[in-house]
Amino acid sequence: MSENFNPFSLSGKVILVTGASSGIGRGIAVACAKIGATIIINGRNEERLKDVIASMHGTEHKYIVADLNNQDDIRLLCSDMPKLDGIVHCAGVANRIPCKAIKQADIDFIMKTNVEAPMLLQAELLKQKKISKSASIVFIASRAADSPSMGNSIYSASKGAIISYAKCLALELASRQIRVNCISPGMVWTDLITNVLNEEDLKTAEQNYPLKRFGKVEDVANLTIYLLSDASTWMTGSAIDISGGGEGILV
Ligand SMILES: NC(=O)c1ccc[n+]([C@@H]2O[C@H](COP(=O)([O-])OP(=O)(O)OC[C@H]3O[C@@H](n4cnc5c(N)ncnc54)[C@H](OP(=O)(O)O)[C@@H]3O)[C@@H](O)[C@H]2O)c1
Repeated sequence: MSENFNPFSLSGKVILVTGASSGIGRGIAVACAKIGATIIINGRNEERLKDVIASMHGTEHKYIVADLNNQDDIRLLCSDMPKLDGIVHCAGVANRIPCKAIKQADIDFIMKTNVEAPMLLQAELLKQKKISKSASIVFIASRAADSPSMGNSIYSASKGAIISYAKCLALELASRQIRVNCISPGMVWTDLITNVLNEEDLKTAEQNYPLKRFGKVEDVANLTIYLLSDASTWMTGSAIDISGGGEGILV
């Protein structure tokens, strides 16, 4: 076996990761840098973005502060962008509200960040011709898209919407060999879940997962590397579950 054989190398690729100031996006940015990519990270919190850059292997990476709910920020982010070989749409928010209590502001909070922002960012990147031929685009969706849990309706609907959108985008970009896939994680230990759910309840629910643990950000990062790499050039229009055999359910 050749010592240099590595179908998952991201060497020479330039990749944008949104929502990289914490959690899964941070884990993806750090892992992709380690395997050779040049990374541009985005989030709103500059201090945390600087901290992520400092923890990354290599010196070519940069951060761009932008609120993806703001169209002017999206335009500026894109105009600052070199040609991209990969995009990871990871920025996201969550809430837990029973269906009966949902208000317009609750819907807007989730849908703006989880659905509208990645669609509008994607449109702007395409308009500004920032995506290379044969690039790979990854959306971080969720098992919640088709795994219901109490109080999670808006979030679940947002992730279902982005999976449907991504499948259409995959068709539209296939003629340029640009691939589009989704990753649907079950529960992963990050602020997103600990901010909205009780930690003791989470630890109990974790034991219902067949592999007896929730995910780590590295679990999702390794699958993302596969989808960004040339090892996956026949993958497009897919939504891949990664969940330790669990459903993501916290009833
Ligand atoms: N953790 C889980 O169990 C789990 C499971 C399935 C899917 N997911 C998905 O994974 C993704 C990452 O979640 P996480 O668990 O890593 O949560 P997290 O630690 O809370 O990270 C969320 C990220 O999104 C960014 N963000 C939020 N709103 C933004 C905006 N308007 N503009 C720019 N950036 C924004 C945040 O950055 P700033 O605060 O700096 O803006 C942060 O970097 C989300 O899409 C989530 O739905 C998570």
